[in-house]
Amino acid sequence: MNHFNYRRGALHAEDVPLAAIADAVGTPTYVYSAATLTRHFQVVTEAFSAYSRPHLICYSVKANSTLAVLRLFAEQGSGFDIVSGGELARVRQAGGDVAKAVFAGVGKTPEEMEQALDAGILMFNVESAEELEVLDAVGRRLKRRAPFALRVNPDVDARTHRYIATGLKTSKFGVPFEEAVALYARARKMKGLKAVGLDCHIGSQLTQASPMRAALSKVAGLYSELREQGHPLEYLDIGGGLGITYADETPPSPQEYASTVLKAVEGTGATLILEPGRVLVGNAGVLLTRVLYRKQTPTKQFVVVDVGMNDLIRPALYEAHHALQPVVKRRGKAVEVDVVGPVCESSDVLARARPLVLPGQGELYAVMSAGAYGMSMASNYNSRARPAEVMVNGEAWRVVREREKPEDLWRGERA
Ligand code: LLP
Repeated sequence: MNHFNYRRGALHAEDVPLAAIADAVGTPTYVYSAATLTRHFQVVTEAFSAYSRPHLICYSVKANSTLAVLRLFAEQGSGFDIVSGGELARVRQAGGDVAKAVFAGVGKTPEEMEQALDAGILMFNVESAEELEVLDAVGRRLKRRAPFALRVNPDVDARTHRYIATGLKTSKFGVPFEEAVALYARARKMKGLKAVGLDCHIGSQLTQASPMRAALSKVAGLYSELREQGHPLEYLDIGGGLGITYADETPPSPQEYASTVLKAVEGTGATLILEPGRVLVGNAGVLLTRVLYRKQTPTKQFVVVDVGMNDLIRPALYEAHHALQPVVKRRGKAVEVDVVGPVCESSDVLARARPLVLPGQGELYAVMSAGAYGMSMASNYNSRARPAEVMVNGEAWRVVREREKPEDLWRGERA
């Protein structure tokens, strides 16, 4: 459920007409609904309240790392899943609690480990034997035991786009499932480490429960085995990945997801950690764009808009589908159009062969479901300034990130 709806033919974010925001701030602009973000967080929280042990939601910062979004989740009591020193700094800047943050990623540097340990991170999700040794050295240098979980690779097919599947044997993520027991035994002898959990994450935009079930039953079994061997693990981190509806996908609801998870982990007695990203923010954001030109060629009808692949890379990178809604509802016969951006790449296509009532120049569209992996993956390619961002809350709205100015494009450069 989200709070982007038509009222008398005008698309609103909560109580604010999107056209008013576009007129005031310009386009492209990301617009988020605070009510939707809050609701999504609460729905996931409630779904997991059935668990007999505590659970902690660690919002996956990479999905949308904008300070206002982080602050909103921090105020809801969320923890955070981070993958870099930069994300750690953002969480702190937004007032997030580092003691509720977990640090994943295959390429943490010793400096990043030190910063996180110093800041009091809840645990490191370690992804290789060599990383474990470096973390041990960092712990000893700081005269601390670095709390860690091993991220295991359960070798299951998440049945999602191959670029965002992470739980297959061939993937770079995690340590091979079979090696985990020996690695925990080795780590027990290291003075700079303390095993506190077990972690896994099999991929993103998961729409089926069966790969989740397969992975969860493997890691829950391993968790219990490690506890029996005397490792004082407390946390079972099951990663993120729950999918959302972009077009006609039917992912499990948060309640169905929770019941799948809880069936598998109930016997472990673990404190559960979840790392949802997309499901919290994806449908809580849209990207406003304006039509620049229409262009009819012998083979195609193009619509050129002011959103490029630098602003939203998902269609170009994953051939991802994002619905397009006119900001002011229109009547007429739909024709098949390619909606393209201004970037000088043939892959800068926002929507291919999409039936649309041919829009006029200057007309506004909302690119739907753009809250996750939108702004956080935006770049300055073609020296394009990144979009502004707006947070709506009821009838109120505010700019939470200004549109970049030309001088932002060369900050730190010397000619
Ligand atoms: N935890 C870990 C360890 C992850 O690697 C990810 C996402 C998450 C949690 C959050 O997953 P989510 O709940 O959002 O599915 N850029 C791609 C998605 C990349 C996902 C990377 N890892 C996209 O736009 O679809």
